[in-house]
Amino acid sequence: MENRQTASTGTCLIAGCGYTGARLARRLAGRGPVLALVRSQASAAALTTALAAELTPELSAGGLQVQALDLDAPGAFEPPRDLESVLYLAPPPGQGEGDPRFQRFLAGLGGVRPKVLVYLSTTGVYGDAQGQAVDEATPPAPGDAAGRRRLAAEQAAFAWGAERGVRGVALRVAGIYGPGRLPLERLRSGEPVLRPEDSGPGNRIQVEDLVAACLAALDRPVAGAVNVTDGDPRSIGAFLELVARLAGLPAPRRVTLAEARRELSPGMLAFLQASRKVLNRRLVEDLGVTLRYADPETGVRESLREMGLISTAGR
Ligand SMILES: NC(=O)c1ccc[n+]([C@@H]2O[C@H](COP(=O)([O-])OP(=O)(O)OC[C@H]3O[C@@H](n4cnc5c(N)ncnc54)[C@H](OP(=O)(O)O)[C@@H]3O)[C@@H](O)[C@H]2O)c1
Repeated sequence: MENRQTASTGTCLIAGCGYTGARLARRLAGRGPVLALVRSQASAAALTTALAAELTPELSAGGLQVQALDLDAPGAFEPPRDLESVLYLAPPPGQGEGDPRFQRFLAGLGGVRPKVLVYLSTTGVYGDAQGQAVDEATPPAPGDAAGRRRLAAEQAAFAWGAERGVRGVALRVAGIYGPGRLPLERLRSGEPVLRPEDSGPGNRIQVEDLVAACLAALDRPVAGAVNVTDGDPRSIGAFLELVARLAGLPAPRRVTLAEARRELSPGMLAFLQASRKVLNRRLVEDLGVTLRYADPETGVRESLREMGLISTAGR
């Protein structure tokens, strides 16, 4: 599935073309025109340089443009007239209710009607399921304002699509990891992890599998929410221990819940304790994604290899 190359004649717009978006842009550039939006001029310059260095003339022939546009600032946005698909990857603002950033973006699209709108949400919309399994039929129950903003954005995406006959997909993404996105600093800082007896399940996705999910969401006639996780429910502590082992770093110190309450910030503790086992049946069966890194051991190893931190043969 992830190698599928569906040609497109219209423009694919990636709003919020950061870590995931840049990888996505590389994959989409061979299929047709791509417009990548970022907030700052600095990010636009960095992305342009990175993409220019990597793309072959054939890939860039379809037309890949990078544009800076701050969705929090008033200003005109001219959407491409031939807009075919939209992937929205910018996060909501850090405070307040709802997602006015996304609302402004949708308003900026005006009367243009793409075929599909893919919104990148998070598994945080499920809130703390106390270790229980959740799938897309589980009613979202965000436990904090960030989760509520995500849910509001999902609903805005679906409502906007329904009004215009545009297929809407909300990818509920677990913790993203990959090259340059491994908790190496956290491990080096000596921050402890909860011992296994006090830990609930965790959920993650390797960035290349997330990109495959985004491409499948464009291509497959699937609508609604789809969880994007590798299906490996190991706890955050167990994941950190895996990264430490593969990166050749000391294993993090295990602490009890009582000790963690003394040592960690309330925010970090709440994050570590909010647990759910996110199921990915829809991702695999409905979106047809073959996960390359269903086993995080392979995903972490490949990420370290791409970062030049281990050799191809691994440790
Ligand atoms: N990290 C995780 O584990 C995780 C888990 C689940 C879901 N997610 C969500 O998945 C999505 C993609 O994640 P990512 O890590 O690839 O994101 P990222 O690297 O943080 O990139 C975010 C992008 O959004 C742009 N952006 C932010 N504010 C903007 C604004 N006001 N106007 C226009 N553009 C704006 C940024 O532009 P600048 O670079 O110019 O600021 C950047 O291009 C995000 O919504 C993220 O919150 C992340």
